[in-house]
Amino acid sequence: MEEILIRIEKATAFLLEKSEGRKPRVGIVLGSGFSDWTNKLKTILDIPYKEIPGFPTTSVIGHRGHLILADVEGFPVLIMQGRFHYYEGHSMPELAIPIRVFKKLGVETLLLTNASGSINRNYQPGDIMILSDHINLVQDNPLIGPNVEAFGTRFPDAANIYTSELQQIGLLVAAKYGIRAHNGVYVFTSGPAFETPAEIRMMRTLGADAVGMSTVPEAMAACHANMKVLGISLIANLGSGMADHPLTHEDVMHTMNRVAPNLHQILDELVLKLSAMS
Ligand code: HPA
Repeated sequence: MEEILIRIEKATAFLLEKSEGRKPRVGIVLGSGFSDWTNKLKTILDIPYKEIPGFPTTSVIGHRGHLILADVEGFPVLIMQGRFHYYEGHSMPELAIPIRVFKKLGVETLLLTNASGSINRNYQPGDIMILSDHINLVQDNPLIGPNVEAFGTRFPDAANIYTSELQQIGLLVAAKYGIRAHNGVYVFTSGPAFETPAEIRMMRTLGADAVGMSTVPEAMAACHANMKVLGISLIANLGSGMADHPLTHEDVMHTMNRVAPNLHQILDELVLKLSAMS
C-alpha cells in the first residue's frame, strides 16, 4: 500500500508542475472507442502514461494511453485517453491510482465511459446506458488494505455511487442527440474472455442490464474520495448467446465507430455542463 501511495504522490507532483496552476474540476476516463473525442479539443498537455512517474501503463488495441489536460471553453478538463484494466494484470489499488491523482489535482466530478455488452433484452447495440448502480462480480476492491483517511472513510457508503442529478443530465443530453438512452445496472467482470451464455443468464437474474470489464474499480475509488460520478456505457454488442454469431472485439469497435459522432456531441455538451456545475 505504501508503494501505491508513493506512486500517487509522484504522479501528482509531476502533473502539478506540468499543469502550471490550472485546477481541473472535471475528469473524464475515455474507454474503448471514446478516445477520438479528444482530437478536436484545445490541448494544454498531452502526456503518454509511460512518461508519468508512478502511473501504470496500458496495452489494449483501441485504447490509447495518454493523459490530456484540455481547455474546454475556458474550463480545464483532465482526460484519461485509454484506461487500465484488471484483466491486464493491474491490481485493484493500481487501478485506483489515476482516480486518486485526479482527486489530488482538484477533480470533483468524474465522467466514466465504457463499452459494454447488453443483458437487458430491450437494449440494442448503439444504445447508451447511464449507470444507475453496479454489481461487482469480481469481488476484489481497490479499497482493500490499510485505509487512506486522507482520501476517505474505512467503510464508505456505496448506495449513491452514481450521482442522481448527473444521471438525469446524462439521460437528457443523450436524448437530445437522438441516442436511445437507458438507466441501468452495470455488472463488472474481470474478462478478458467474454461471458458464457450461462453467465449472461445469471447476470440477468441478478438484476444487471449491461456487462463490462472496467469502470467499477474507478467508481469505487471515486466514491471513497467523495467525488461525483457519472457513468456512461455504450452498448456495443448483444451479450453472449443473445446474437446468432460469435462475439469479437472487432464487433465492439465497429459499433463504437458507427455511433462515435453522436457520442462526441454528447460528451461535448456533458463536459461543458459538468464544468459549469463544478
Ligand atoms: N462483455 C464484457 N465486456 C464487454 C462486452 C461484453 O459483451 N462488450 C464490450 N465490453
